[in-house]
Amino acid sequence: MQGLKSEMLRGCWYVAATSRSLKRGKTKAKTLLGEPVVLARGEDGTAFALRDLCPHRGIPLSYGMVEGCSLRCCYHGWRFDENGTCVEIPSLAEGQKIDVAKINCGAYPCVERYGLVWVYFAANGEAPEDGPMPDVEIFPHIAPETPPAAAIMQEFDCSVDHAAFGLMDPTHAAYIHTSWWFKKNGRTLRPKEKSFEPAPFGWRMVRHALPPQNLVYKLLGDDVTTEIAYRLPGYRIEDVAGSKHSVVAVTALTPIDGQRTEVYQFFYSTMGLVKYGRPLAEYLMNVFLGQDREAVVRQREGLVWEPRLMMINDADTQARWWARIKSEWQEALAEGRSFANPLKPQTLRWRS
Ligand code: FES
Ligand SMILES: [Fe+2]
Repeated sequence: MQGLKSEMLRGCWYVAATSRSLKRGKTKAKTLLGEPVVLARGEDGTAFALRDLCPHRGIPLSYGMVEGCSLRCCYHGWRFDENGTCVEIPSLAEGQKIDVAKINCGAYPCVERYGLVWVYFAANGEAPEDGPMPDVEIFPHIAPETPPAAAIMQEFDCSVDHAAFGLMDPTHAAYIHTSWWFKKNGRTLRPKEKSFEPAPFGWRMVRHALPPQNLVYKLLGDDVTTEIAYRLPGYRIEDVAGSKHSVVAVTALTPIDGQRTEVYQFFYSTMGLVKYGRPLAEYLMNVFLGQDREAVVRQREGLVWEPRLMMINDADTQARWWARIKSEWQEALAEGRSFANPLKPQTLRWRS
């Protein structure tokens, strides 16, 4: 769990792209959970996901072309529908009989919610409906058809575990996130004490008031409160609500393979952004997330030496919780039972 590589959880939905980045009639080649995946958007607007290998000669289907709601291989023109079933082999002459419907390149369950394309990675070939974590509708008070106000993605050169530790690490901000526009007072550490409780597939920092000097107070109205939930397979969901408006900010981790991770950040807001608000928000989000990315790039230089790492109370307690719920997830899958959250309510103290 602490080295360069980590286990990738299956039986889960993962964010595979923002809806905006997948254009009608186009494909997007990706490696997700160590598998070649092609995302495509049919001419009718439907997003689908196939294994990115043509079963004929293995060329990636992502080099092919979208036709209607199917994908034609660039090499010999075999065509596959959104379920991965072959629907045409152009070279067949009259009288040559092949049951093309028996040829399948492999398809992944794929849905669009919240302006994101989600792909399901089955644990044992099950469908999402009978899989362990069917629900992609995980964001509080957001209608599934709502697009994010801003969304970015950066590739992190680290395992999903180290990316997750960074997400739930309350003490790195004073050292890593230093910009003229954030924490401009430098490293003034203050004592913090927060209550945590178990939540579906993870835990949450119990809803509490934000200090009134915080900038978001002015935008969201009075009595601004926040709740931060962490859940498998790698989401941090911060829900900030005031008397006038609310904002839900999400970080989602999708493993590229055991050693690399796609880190998505997006937020939804009842406020609407001013003109040029989105590019500005995305610029700032990229600066902030880039600081986390730089840290893991540097960390990698050390991890190649396979050092023994440490976790201390209480600053790293959430990283321990992550490790515990992750192993519980894997044990539950292996034993064919449902996930039983092993966490208990706890108050954590640290300085940050
Ligand atoms: S390799 Fe795809 S059709 Fe031949
Ligand atoms: Fe960070």
